[in-house]
Amino acid sequence: MDELQVGQYWEANAETWTRHVRAGYDVYRDALNTPAFLAFLPPVQGLSGLDIGCGEGENTRQLARLGARMQAIDIAPTFIRHASASETAAPLGITYRHASATALPFPDATFDFATAFMSMMDIAGPEVALVQAYRVLKPGGFFQFSILHPCFVPPYRRNIRDDSGEVLAVEVGRYFQATDGAIESWHFSAAPAAERAKVEPFQVPRFHRTLSQWVAMIVQAGFTIEALGEPMASEETALAEPVVADTRVAPIFLHFRLRKPAKA
Ligand SMILES: C[S@@+](CC[C@H](N)C(=O)[O-])C[C@H]1O[C@@H](n2cnc3c(N)ncnc32)[C@H](O)[C@@H]1O
Repeated sequence: MDELQVGQYWEANAETWTRHVRAGYDVYRDALNTPAFLAFLPPVQGLSGLDIGCGEGENTRQLARLGARMQAIDIAPTFIRHASASETAAPLGITYRHASATALPFPDATFDFATAFMSMMDIAGPEVALVQAYRVLKPGGFFQFSILHPCFVPPYRRNIRDDSGEVLAVEVGRYFQATDGAIESWHFSAAPAAERAKVEPFQVPRFHRTLSQWVAMIVQAGFTIEALGEPMASEETALAEPVVADTRVAPIFLHFRLRKPAKA
C-alpha cells in the first residue's frame, strides 16, 4: 500500500478518532503509554522538537507543556485542522503542518529532538521515515518513538483469560510476516456500545516489522540505540483501568530512544 492510500485511510479515521481520544476512550494511551513515554524522555525544556504523526496533537501539547518549542506534522489534513484549532483556542507555540514523515518539509539539522507516538508502524516506508528523522536532527539530537511491540503484538495476537476474565497469557502468531498496509479494524476498547453502534470501526493500515528488522532499519539510518522501554501498568493503574491490566502479562508497546551521533 502506498502513502497516498495510507493518508486516505487516516483521513477517514480522523474525525471519529479525534472525538474518541478527546472523550478519553484511548485508555492505553492516557493511562499507560504516554505517561511512560514522557517518563522515559530526556529533559526537553528549551529544546526545539518535531512530533511526527501527531494526530490531533494531544501528545505534542504535552511536550510543549514540558517547555519544548514544538512543530508537528501529520499526513491527515483533518487531524492537522483539529490540532491547529486547539492551538488557536489555547496557544502553546506549536506549529502544525500537513506533511509526510517520508518527506519532512524541514532543512537538515533543524531540531534538537524528534518524537513519534505510535505512528512509526503506521507509516508506509518506516525505513524512509527513520532516514528523514535522522536528517532533520542536529548532530547529538535524539529521536524517541513508540510502536506496537513487534514481539507481543504481531499481526496475530489473542489474550488468554481465566474463568474470571483475567488475562493469564498472550498467544501470538505470524511474527515473521512483514505486512504492507494490512488493514486492522477496531474501536477503542473503552468506547461505549452506543457510540460504537453509531460509527464505523477505524481502518488502520499497519506495517509490521520484526524486532531485528526494526534494529536493522535504525542502524542503517545512522542512529545508535540509547535505550528501550517496555511499559507495564502498575498494580494501582491496572486496578483503576482494568483494560491495561494485560500489559502486566506481556508488553503491548515498545519505546526506542535513538541518538544521532554528535560527530558523523
Ligand atoms: C495511531 S495514530 C497516533 C497519533 C498520535 N501520535 C497519538 O499518539 O495520539 C498514527 C498517526 O500516524 C499518522 N501517519 C500515518 N502515516 C503517516 C505519514 N507518512 N506521515 C505522517 N503521519 C502519518 C496518522 O495520520 C495518525 O495520525
